[in-house]
Amino acid sequence: MSHAVVTGGAGFIGSALVRALLAEGEPRVAVIDTLLSGKESNLDEVSGRVDLHRVDIRDYAAVAPVVKGASRVFHLAAIPSVPKSIADPLPSHDVNINGTFEVFRACADGKVGRVVYAASSSAYGDTEVLPKAEAMRPDPLSPYAAQKLMGEHYARVFSSCFGLETVALRYFNVYGPRQDPSSPYSGIISIFMKCLIEGTSPTLFGDGNQSRDFTFVEDVAALCIKASRTPGVSGRMFNAGNGNRYTLNQVWETLQKIEGVSIPALYGPPRAGDVRDSQADTRAAVSELGHAPKFSLEEGLRRTLAWYRTS
Ligand code: UD1
Repeated sequence: MSHAVVTGGAGFIGSALVRALLAEGEPRVAVIDTLLSGKESNLDEVSGRVDLHRVDIRDYAAVAPVVKGASRVFHLAAIPSVPKSIADPLPSHDVNINGTFEVFRACADGKVGRVVYAASSSAYGDTEVLPKAEAMRPDPLSPYAAQKLMGEHYARVFSSCFGLETVALRYFNVYGPRQDPSSPYSGIISIFMKCLIEGTSPTLFGDGNQSRDFTFVEDVAALCIKASRTPGVSGRMFNAGNGNRYTLNQVWETLQKIEGVSIPALYGPPRAGDVRDSQADTRAAVSELGHAPKFSLEEGLRRTLAWYRTS
């Protein structure tokens, strides 16, 4: 048996990856997801070609048979969000660190071809220099960032000690269709979309001039697939970003322009654990993995808005 598995495959990024894998020729994809934050409806269009396992990644005995013999496993399942990890650190510690360990252990035991691990740009913290390059010293500012960094260390160690091929990708603020805007911990672009459609003001934490490398979900999915195939990169970590950087004020401005409306943002106190600026140095991903992001921010925002309108 040689198949592809996506943990967190019912989530916003995971389901985009499942669709991309099916589009590039995988006959079926196995998904591991508790459906706590993921949604079965995210996979509606492709449900006939998806084997959904409602399994917790901390449960080795349940994960092992699903990943056994897989050609590639994409490990995205996590409890995301910087502020959530500060408000309640234990659940995210347990899932993001212990769960990730069990996924790697099951993959090593099951002789999986390669694991692509979803790491986070938050591991960089506030660097003195932008853009942020892989060789820079990590400086996590939140439990979530520390947990995701620990996952990278395990990815490397499973490669060096247990012969499991692994590649870690540090995702930079991913956005796009299906991102859930309903929680206070939701990604800012999904919150912007909801506000724009409802005609309400978003609240920006701080002055709104913090910047992010907003990366369209399909570009990240495409890079994940490249990382699963490129020979000679096991044990490595690469940035998964677009290479640009926009402030929250600029993004909200752009969205109002696209929509032809004027809805001034509100401003609140800065958020604990927040990174000030974030921008990926994409050179290593471009030259070694063939990363080729296709979506400008404006194009990505237009597509995302179109989805929110019709869903
Ligand atoms: C972080 C990580 C990212 C990770 C993600 C998971 C960084 C640079 N990025 O994203 O790699 O995958 O967590 O959740 O650390 N904001 C508002 N108003 C709101 C909500 C958010 O102003 O209502 C602000 C935040 O304070 C932050 C920015 O928007 O400055 C982006 O926040 P968010 O979308 O939550 O993502 P990050 O925390 O940047």
